[in-house]
Amino acid sequence: MRAESCTPIPCKHPNQANLRTADFCIAVFNTQIIDDLNIAAQALREGKVVAFPTETVYGLGADATNPEAVRRLFEAKGRPGDNPLIVHLGSKSQLLQAALDLPEDAYRLLDAFSPGPITVVVRKQPQICDSVTAGLDTVGIRIPSDPQAAELLRLVNRPIAAPSANLSGRPSCTTWQSVLEDMNGRIDYLFRGNISRIGIESSVVLCTGLEPILLRPGDITLEDIRRVLPKAKSWREVVESQPHSSPGLRHPHYRPVAIVQLISTTDELSTIPANEVATSAYAEYSPNQPQCDSVATSLPSNIDASQFLLYAKYHTIAEYASGFYEFLREADRKGATKIYLRRATADSSGQALLDRQLRAAGLDS
Ligand code: TXA
Ligand code: MG
Repeated sequence: MRAESCTPIPCKHPNQANLRTADFCIAVFNTQIIDDLNIAAQALREGKVVAFPTETVYGLGADATNPEAVRRLFEAKGRPGDNPLIVHLGSKSQLLQAALDLPEDAYRLLDAFSPGPITVVVRKQPQICDSVTAGLDTVGIRIPSDPQAAELLRLVNRPIAAPSANLSGRPSCTTWQSVLEDMNGRIDYLFRGNISRIGIESSVVLCTGLEPILLRPGDITLEDIRRVLPKAKSWREVVESQPHSSPGLRHPHYRPVAIVQLISTTDELSTIPANEVATSAYAEYSPNQPQCDSVATSLPSNIDASQFLLYAKYHTIAEYASGFYEFLREADRKGATKIYLRRATADSSGQALLDRQLRAAGLDS
């Protein structure tokens, strides 16, 4: 409930101070942490806001057919109303609860990659609230593969709108503890589930035109999509004709409090002043070194890994992606002033992570 006189929730995170006063004045819920999917399903059916795990990142769920539930969800997240939400379903048999019809391209993508980390944007069913789709006549639909998410959605048997379960603008959450950090007191229930395996949000594909367009890269790459739909394009290829093809691209995303800097070679670290290393976090990516390598073998000679406030080394893009958001959040928890990230490769496999890195650094992807 929005009220002039409501008491603001204590500011736990510096980014919360960025929320407008009206966003900040929300009803203070008593967030309950639960382990029972039946309670979570019942709460969603009653119009409550419930955070739950998926294989990509945690989602913040509400009944997509209930305008009041959706309003509370936007409010809890501090989400701009012009950025539409993805609708989650438990199985393909539910597709027409959210989609008006299913174009051939969407059908083929879902057939190849669903349940899984893919979202298809198609024409919307009238029962999906206009606020879910930010007034668009299209809707993003996803069927998660995470067993707990799948079971929850099957139990609810309703279309569930679910953005990532972070405060708007912050890094996404891959653990229930991170969700609690952002959402405690802002939502009704938090399902204490698995760590998100993939760690990067789903690939979003617009399927309403003559050619499918990848609006947001994810674990399923443009190459993967082209194996099924050879005519698929990235939004960059069509950006001139459709400057705002994905509404979400207009807003800041995935930003930790610390300043993020991407580096292409470890030599770039040698110029960091010695006193700054101790307040910095560094995520290294060493694809060519075997996993059993001791840490920091490729750091410049004047820096040792143990000097960093936080240090992590990843050997594959999948490993880097799955640890990425938690690394950013942990750097903030430790009070890091700067986060250095080894740039993900710009090839097909690194594209989604690079997109998130660039946005975390405040650069356009
Ligand atoms: O993996 C995921 O997709 C996660 C989990 C929870 O499923 N969800 C997620 O939701 O990342 P969110 O709200 O953080 O991102 C949704 C993205 C935004 O970029 C939004 O603009 C885009 O999907 N989107 C949603 N509906 C759309 C539509 N009708 N047309 C174009 N883009 C749409
Ligand atoms: Mg998000």
